[in-house]
Amino acid sequence: MKNRDTFSSQIGIVAASAGSAIGLGNIWRFPYMAGKNGGSAFIIIYLVAIILMGYPLVYTEFAMGRRAKTNAVDTFGIIGGKKTWNSVGFLAVLTVFLISTFYMMITGWVIYYFYHSLTGGLYHISPSTDSVTYFKSVFTHMSSSMGIPLIFSMIAIYITALINSIGIKEGVEKYSKIMMPVLLVLFIILIGYSTTLPGFSQSMTFLFKPDFSVVTPAVIIGAIGQAFFSLSLGMGALITYGSYISKTENIRKIAKQVTFADTAIALFSGLLIFPAVFTYNLEPTAGPSLIFISLPQVFLKMPGGRWFSVLFFLLVIVAAITSLVSMLEILITYTIEKTNWTRKTSTWVIVFLTTIGGAINIAGEGPLSFVQIGGRTIFDWLDYLTNNITIPLVAVLTAILAGWVWKNVHLNKELEIGGTPSTMLDHQFNSILKWLIPPTIIILMIALILGIEA
Ligand code: PFF
Repeated sequence: MKNRDTFSSQIGIVAASAGSAIGLGNIWRFPYMAGKNGGSAFIIIYLVAIILMGYPLVYTEFAMGRRAKTNAVDTFGIIGGKKTWNSVGFLAVLTVFLISTFYMMITGWVIYYFYHSLTGGLYHISPSTDSVTYFKSVFTHMSSSMGIPLIFSMIAIYITALINSIGIKEGVEKYSKIMMPVLLVLFIILIGYSTTLPGFSQSMTFLFKPDFSVVTPAVIIGAIGQAFFSLSLGMGALITYGSYISKTENIRKIAKQVTFADTAIALFSGLLIFPAVFTYNLEPTAGPSLIFISLPQVFLKMPGGRWFSVLFFLLVIVAAITSLVSMLEILITYTIEKTNWTRKTSTWVIVFLTTIGGAINIAGEGPLSFVQIGGRTIFDWLDYLTNNITIPLVAVLTAILAGWVWKNVHLNKELEIGGTPSTMLDHQFNSILKWLIPPTIIILMIALILGIEA
C-alpha cells in the first residue's frame, strides 16, 4: 500500500473531527428537532444517547479506523475478518454520499442568506409588508428555483473540494485548525448577545424543563438519530479520520473532547436561537425553515440585526464546510484506494457525482417539487431514511461488530496504544456496545417501522 498521510497533532485531529461533528446538525437541525419534539424531553433523551451510545461509538470508530488503516468500506471486512462485513461499510459510504447531496444544498442556501445579509438585500422590506409573508416568500423564491441554489451549493462543494484535494495534513488538518477557532469566536459573540434578550429565560425553561408526555418511539429514535448524525457516526467519517491517526495518540481522550465539543455546541445553538425566537413571539416548532424564515424576522427587528445575521450565517457556513470536508474525505479515501487514482482526480470525480446528486435535490425542492411520495420531497426522504434507518442500522452493526466479533480485548488493545490502561469504567462502556446499543436500537427501529406510537 502507498504511504498514507497522517494527522500531525492531537489538536489537529480534534479540530478536524470536531469540525466534522459540528455542523448543520448542531446549528440548523438540533434546534428545530428539539423545537418540534417538545424541547427539553427530546434534549434529555438526546443527552443520554450521546453519553451511552455516542461516546462509545466515537472511540470505537476511531479505533477501528486506526487498526485497519484503510477506507471505511474495507475497515469493516478487516475488523470482522470476513468480506461480507464490507457491505456494512458500503452502506455507511452510500449514506454519506446521499447526505452530502442534500447537505450541499442547504449549505448553498446558507451562503445565499449570508451573501444577501452582507449586501443588505435580505432586509429590504417596505414597512407595510408583513415580515412573515416576506421571509416566507424570500425562502420559497430561492428554494423553488433551480439556478440560484445550484450555483450557491456548487460554491460550497468547490470550497470544500479545494481543501480535500490538498490532503490530510496540509489540507483537512490545517484548515480545520484555522476554521474551528473562527467558529468558536463567532459563536461566543452571538451567544453573548443572545443572553441579553428578554426571551432568554423563557427559552431556558423550554429547553431544560422536561415534558415527557410527548415522548413516543419516534421521538426517541429521532433523538438517537440526531445524536448519531451530530457526532458523524454510522457514516464512516470517524473511521476514515481514525485511519489517519497515528499510534502515538490517545483515542479515548480525543473521543471525549470531540463528544463534549459537539454536544456543547448543539446545546448552545439552542440558547443562541430560542431566545430570539421567544423574544419576538415566533414559533419554536417551525421545522427546517427555522433559521431561514423565523430567524431573519428576528434579525429584522433587532437593533443591528443585519450584522448579527451576517455573523450568524457565516458561523453556519464555517461549521457546514468542515463537515462537508469530512464527508468528501470518506468518499475520496475510498475512491483513491479502490481505483489508484490520484487524490486530485478522485476529489473532482466525487465533486462531479455529488453535484449531480445535489442538483437532483435542488430540483426536488424546486421545479420538480410536485414529485412527492407520501407527501415528502426527495430531500425529505433522504433526510428521513438516512437519519432514521441507515445511520442507526450502521451504528447497530458497528456495535455488534466491535462488541461481539472484534471483542473487547482487541478493542481495548487498540485503545491502549498511545493511551492509558483501561479502567473499570472503560470496560463498562465497552459492554454497552454488546448489551445496550443493539437491543435498544433494534427494538426502536421495529417500533418505528411498525408505526407504533406510545
Ligand atoms: N455531524 C455533521 C453535523 O452535525 O452537521 C453531519 C455529518 C458530518 C454527517 C460528516 C456525516 C458526516 F460524515
